[in-house]
Amino acid sequence: MAKNILIRDLDKNDLEWIKEATPSGMSQNEFIKKIIHNTKKKKSSFSTFNNDDVPETIFAKLPFKYIDLFAGIGGFRSGLTPYGGKCVFSSEWDKYSALTYKAWYNDDNIYENDIRDINIKKMIPDHDILCAGFPCQPFSLAGVSKKQSLGIAHGFDDVKQGNLFHSIMKIVDIKKPPVIFLENVKNLISHDKGNTWKTIKKEIESRGYLLFSKIINANYCVPQSRQRIYIVCFDTKIFGSEISFDFPEQTVNQNLTLANILSDKPDTKYMLSDKLWLYLQNYAKKHKEKGNGFGFGLNTKDSVCRTMSARYYKDGSEILIKQLRWKNPRRLTPEEAKLLMGFNDHYAILQGHNKGFPQVVSDTQAYRQFGNAVVPKVIEDIAQNIINLMAETILNRSAGNLLKT
Ligand SMILES: C[S@@+](CC[C@H](N)C(=O)[O-])C[C@H]1O[C@@H](n2cnc3c(N)ncnc32)[C@H](O)[C@@H]1O
Repeated sequence: MAKNILIRDLDKNDLEWIKEATPSGMSQNEFIKKIIHNTKKKKSSFSTFNNDDVPETIFAKLPFKYIDLFAGIGGFRSGLTPYGGKCVFSSEWDKYSALTYKAWYNDDNIYENDIRDINIKKMIPDHDILCAGFPCQPFSLAGVSKKQSLGIAHGFDDVKQGNLFHSIMKIVDIKKPPVIFLENVKNLISHDKGNTWKTIKKEIESRGYLLFSKIINANYCVPQSRQRIYIVCFDTKIFGSEISFDFPEQTVNQNLTLANILSDKPDTKYMLSDKLWLYLQNYAKKHKEKGNGFGFGLNTKDSVCRTMSARYYKDGSEILIKQLRWKNPRRLTPEEAKLLMGFNDHYAILQGHNKGFPQVVSDTQAYRQFGNAVVPKVIEDIAQNIINLMAETILNRSAGNLLKT
């Protein structure tokens, strides 16, 4: 004779899970009975897409693995860490960026050669998310005009760097990651009258991915205008063809200004010399008369500055800070530049650095690395929605597995 049992004190999360995982048309009671029935018959399996072991990171929420291509100083890695997951492969050929990466993430396993030379099958492990902020010079406004003036090919025709997107596609073909997460300059959309973007979309979609993209200005989380394109692609074989993915909405915080990142007592060595300051003023005047460019960018502590670029180390002209004590403005210190890019204590502590991310390279290299990086908070916010979608998909799949007889 059938007997009723009443389960008391069920954890709130378990109750939530039962509610969400119960397929429509089935009562929660029937669902639980079915799970018990099937569990008796066979061990149910809960697995992430490519998961076969437990995540290693501190605040693991969902077991997932990712790779960090063109890793730089790890904007993707810092941004993904709060969600747990395990970085199973990183690639960066610049020895100074690799030095910073190793010191910041306590990870010596970085592949330091040209990613185009790698034996993908042998050296790149399976992963759930492929992350890549691939080099932007072939597509960026500054990069393109410099290359045009020198009569050098740009975009995909740039022999040195333009084909790096194709090297990502080679990895996609072999590893078939469920999610691809890319970042680049916003000019990627308009480069070569939109043809570059068309090619990128076609290459990704023809491989069975649904592509979502958005230009996001990081000024909602750092006091800098930094517009970048973020591209998130889902393998339709895993996620289905009706994927509802939204990029996060951002609200600009009016109180977020350079005051948040400027130090009280910067070293005098960051002050501009009379000679450089005069040169920058004359240069700006000349260009203004010709009707082009802004020249230098002069800020107070109440400003939100322009985009910090990889050339900041040259003269710092795009982000100068007015001084009360000195007659000439100064450039940002490397510490301030790091904070301007959002590599703050929150992310440093997650990697075990209690006094912030350390500087292990020269000022020149540090500025270059910051100017090239992606802001971790933007990655974190987008990743939240990616991971929610992955969790939902796994939940449905697990529920499906549990129901299979
Ligand atoms: C735009 S930056 C990416 C920065 C990174 N997202 C971050 O947060 O720091 C591109 C990086 O790709 C690296 N790179 C360029 N070509 C490469 C290649 N062929 N193989 C490996 N790394 C390469 C560069 O050294 C640079 O650090």
